Amino acid sequence: MKIELVMGDIVRHKADMVVVNLFEGVKRPGGATGAVDAALEGAITAAIRDGDFQGKWGETLLLRPVKGVASPRVLVLGLGKKEKFSLDLVRQAALPVVRLARKLKLATVASVLHGAGIGGLDPEAAARFAALGAALSNYEYDRYKSEKENRVGRFRLVENNRLLASPIRKGLEYGARVGEAVNWARNLVSSPPGDLRPDGLARAAKALAKGLGTAAAKKIRVRVFGKKEIEAWGMGGILAVGKGSDAPPRLIVAEFRGGRPGGPWTALVGKGVTFDTGGISLKKWEGMEKMKYDMAGGAGMLGAVRAAAAVGIPVNVVAVVPAVENMPSGAAYRPGDVIRMMSGKTVEVLSTDAEGRLILADAMAWAKKRYRPAAMVDAATLTGACVVALGSVTMGMIGNDGKLLSMIKEASGVSGEKAWELPLHEEYFEQIKSEIGDLKNIGGPEAGTITAACFLKEFAGDTPWVHLDIAGVAWREKERMGYAPGPTGAPVRLIVEFLSQEGRKRAQ
Ligand code: BES
Ligand code: ZN
Ligand code: ZN
Repeated sequence: MKIELVMGDIVRHKADMVVVNLFEGVKRPGGATGAVDAALEGAITAAIRDGDFQGKWGETLLLRPVKGVASPRVLVLGLGKKEKFSLDLVRQAALPVVRLARKLKLATVASVLHGAGIGGLDPEAAARFAALGAALSNYEYDRYKSEKENRVGRFRLVENNRLLASPIRKGLEYGARVGEAVNWARNLVSSPPGDLRPDGLARAAKALAKGLGTAAAKKIRVRVFGKKEIEAWGMGGILAVGKGSDAPPRLIVAEFRGGRPGGPWTALVGKGVTFDTGGISLKKWEGMEKMKYDMAGGAGMLGAVRAAAAVGIPVNVVAVVPAVENMPSGAAYRPGDVIRMMSGKTVEVLSTDAEGRLILADAMAWAKKRYRPAAMVDAATLTGACVVALGSVTMGMIGNDGKLLSMIKEASGVSGEKAWELPLHEEYFEQIKSEIGDLKNIGGPEAGTITAACFLKEFAGDTPWVHLDIAGVAWREKERMGYAPGPTGAPVRLIVEFLSQEGRKRAQ
């Protein structure tokens, strides 16, 4: 999809459909909507007056003017209450628009920038979110569809204020690039598990710089390590989980050196279980197919590196993704086994289905040793308990460092990807103490998200670290929060915002 700015008057702009907006309760629209209304001899005002259209959030009114405006279709989009409007709603507003355009097989959609007028939003930021929304709404995993769904070819913002041209253009460019990286991650998550096994995820990561400019690509380095190296480094967690599969594990490492040479590193560790059957502690059949998304944390962290390179964030960032397939077989690890992790700690396995923490712990230890990162963030579809606690609205967040936690909170707020902190009180650690080894890999039925994080904390050591449990938000069954059903690409947007905060902080 081409996303572009066109300076001019939306009344005279020619596209397959033009989009204007209305806040709830407004009886006489002003701005661009007012201009279109006047050109249509009061058609919008009449619809409001007669109660056909109220401007409620997500409400649409499609008009087919025969004269007055240059385009054959005018869509009036309800933005809801003005006080409640936000940047993330600018993104979400794109979904009904793009969806309608796709249904009508329209090639070009032109819209005003929502919220930049009486909404009072910063135009550059609003443009970012508008472009992001357009790119994300146009996404579809159609690799296996014989008949491909229609996509919108061009999404234009039409603006008549010359002073806003430069900030809007900048915002659009940024949003489009981040959106592309989010969709890149979503494609990996959508891939059937037989298509994307650990080596497949590694191959995709190898192509992470593809499509980016040469300047960005030069600062990217992707390395993939195989079973031999993983053995040599004593990564007992990754080896144990990977043992049951014919497809051997991989350790994927993707760097973007956007910061100053020799400057500090930020490490992003992402769970890359390409399929989680539960292993010997087999999951029930119902819904198991969904466990292809158990690599969403890994895809998200790789996507964040791609996005950081695409928009040129001045940070040194590395994604470390342990990729395994958790399968039951004669070679699989068993409940009762005790494994020695890279850090030297021993872990008693009580459930082979609590595999994520085992591979993440080794990847975190490796990232610490190789990069001595100033900050480490991990993302994982780690616990069903997090889905119970926070649903599919908000990701769980736990960490060992107040400063890093507040940066992630800030990034969450700005990006619109919701995160909520859970406690890491000392008392919870009792639940993961083992009789036979140092730790056990499950902490009982209570506080499952917290005890999983307690386990990881043992491997973060003194590195400032935040864990994001994205089990609930990485895949949504129903349309929600401006996403069609399917993978969301979480937490790419949050991480990109966090990295740009870091970039700004370092520049000071
Ligand atoms: N990948 C799952 C977590 C998960 C569950 C993600 C549901 C998305 C939806 C993870 O590996 C797992 O199986 N966790 C277990 C842990 C338990 C055995 C302590 C869980 O949450 O049930
Ligand atoms: Zn599992
Ligand atoms: Zn899992």
